[in-house]
Amino acid sequence: MIARETRDQIKALARVEEVVGDFVRLKRSGPRFLGLCPFHDERTPSFVVSPALGIYKCFGCGKAGDAVGFVMEHEKLGYEDALRWLARKYQVDIREEAATPELQAEESRRESLYLIHEFAARHFRALLHEEPAVGLAYLKERGLSDSVIEKFQLGFAPPDRYRLREALRQAGYREDLALHLGLLKQKEGGGEVYDAFRDRVIFPIHSLTGRIVGFGGRILRPSDNAPKYLNSPENDIYSKSRTLYGLHLARRAIVRQDNCYLAEGYMDVIALHEAGVENVVASSGTSLTEEQIKLIRRFTHKVTLLYDGDKAGILAALRGADLMLEQGLQVRLVLFPEGEDPDSYARKIGPAALMRFLESEARDIVGFKAALLLEQAGPDPLRRAEALRKIVESIALIPDGFARNELALNMARLTGLNENLVIQELNRARRHYVEKKLPRPQGPEASAGTAAPPDASESTTAPAEAHDYPEEKALLRWLILYGSLTMRYLAPSSEENIPIRHQTTVWAFVRQQLSEDHYTFLCPQADTVLALLESYYQEALPVHETAFDYLMHEAPEDVRRWIIPLCADAEEKVSPGWQNRFGVDVTHEKDVVSSNTLHLLNALREERVRHYLRQSREQLRKPLDQDTLYLTLGQIQAWEQTKKEIAEALGRVVLE
Ligand code: CTP
Ligand code: MN
Repeated sequence: MIARETRDQIKALARVEEVVGDFVRLKRSGPRFLGLCPFHDERTPSFVVSPALGIYKCFGCGKAGDAVGFVMEHEKLGYEDALRWLARKYQVDIREEAATPELQAEESRRESLYLIHEFAARHFRALLHEEPAVGLAYLKERGLSDSVIEKFQLGFAPPDRYRLREALRQAGYREDLALHLGLLKQKEGGGEVYDAFRDRVIFPIHSLTGRIVGFGGRILRPSDNAPKYLNSPENDIYSKSRTLYGLHLARRAIVRQDNCYLAEGYMDVIALHEAGVENVVASSGTSLTEEQIKLIRRFTHKVTLLYDGDKAGILAALRGADLMLEQGLQVRLVLFPEGEDPDSYARKIGPAALMRFLESEARDIVGFKAALLLEQAGPDPLRRAEALRKIVESIALIPDGFARNELALNMARLTGLNENLVIQELNRARRHYVEKKLPRPQGPEASAGTAAPPDASESTTAPAEAHDYPEEKALLRWLILYGSLTMRYLAPSSEENIPIRHQTTVWAFVRQQLSEDHYTFLCPQADTVLALLESYYQEALPVHETAFDYLMHEAPEDVRRWIIPLCADAEEKVSPGWQNRFGVDVTHEKDVVSSNTLHLLNALREERVRHYLRQSREQLRKPLDQDTLYLTLGQIQAWEQTKKEIAEALGRVVLE
């Protein structure tokens, strides 16, 4: 039997859209995702995934459930085996336990701990209104309304020494459990038992699912011999590093706004709710842990940090940001005027002005870091180089290659640094970062629905098979030669299922598609070429007539030497096979620009799928435990399915 804590951990990490996304191609549609139901045959999507609720539902066949349920249904696994499958995907170490009587006792002990918390919270809430209601007066004085006080279930612990202890005794709760939770304390050597929270307003801390896992208590008046906040200690149901204050109230708004504000304190979260901002959580005074970041990432990939604009605040923001960038989050920063936090500032300028402030002040953290470091460096070239290195180190952490390049180029533009220099430096830092990362286990955890799973892709950068990536080369060549041509295609709109005619450039189309696939190029020249193309097509630089021309001027020598033979055949490129494939009279490759773009993209995807299939099959040759075996087999099946879909797409004719 999988231990309770492992189960909780898996459920906390498993994002339903990620799990489903391994098998179903999902398209975002507002706060939800849409796709073709994997459980029945359909042509128009009626399969909906809601990250906010953590569930999927098919409006065609009625199947519905959460991430675990999806794996059970799709992989035909039992509950425990589905959890093991997810544990593998999210690299959770499984702790096993026999279903002994002790274990059942342990379960019921945890339940008792929660019940004591619920009792205590009710107790503190009732006391908030007991005369003389000093706690309530304090909260009102800080501008909180009755409804927000109610929403956050705020309470009050009076100065009495034994108030909670007596209430717990009368209700028959076990004192040892209340001591474990830190609600009660005991003098050394089995001495007197007394209330831990006294003369403080009480902030219950909730889990994602809304159960109370701890309390924070704020002193009413500043005091020299007592800390401002007293918090529940770590215990069997409270882990500070895995909890975010306010998340249970914020999760829906976070998905809706596709952004999460991150504040420092309890009062900041509450004050923002008071001002009408609900997508906010607090780390409770420490920098964010990896577990907390993963929690946020279940709901959005965008975080806006709210910090005091003093030196300590800026340093804290920069320190926390790298870990978030590394986890694939887009990080923005709002600095408050010195000495202000979201709570004090909201009160000072009012809700409407605060909203405007949050909107207008948010800036990209990397851009901010760049401006700050370069300003500090001044004109000295050595110090500027050092600053550039530091900035690029942050950018190099970003998992998505396109996002990385885009950010680097933006930064170069903003700061006036040479773009090529920045990209070179970025590639160096990225290589360094990838090499430094420990190799991860390959194969089983690779996802199946997209051409390249974001996490596994980097660790497969050096595959055993040495070939020169013909599909990647063909696509890069195509982008260099024809990226600015217009292509037309049909795609379903996100709202209804009516296909809509789209028109865009080849470059924009391919870029978008690869970004959605999280495709990482393995070909060593790709990063440089793509970065240069990005700046060429984005700026439509008039000095150079073609992207090829631009690359000939801007690319480093070795890349130029690589590009020239690649594009040399551009003038006369007519393939006899095309006539059959596209069923039209073809005179030149650019006459079938839309079809050929799709074709090259799909060929690239197919090759990447083959690559993963080879890896999975390789895996099967090794001695495997049963779980890994099943997992690998399931993986192969999923890849085969993807391969089939791509093959079908490859055979399809798209008329120009
Ligand atoms: N904190 C804590 N213990 C302390 C001080 C702070 O646990 N002695 C945590 C609390 O979660 C607090 C957060 O750090 O909410 C931020 O601290 P701070 O900015 O000092 O407090 P505020 O949230 O601004 O609280 P207030 O406005 O009530 O002073
Ligand atoms: Mn404050």
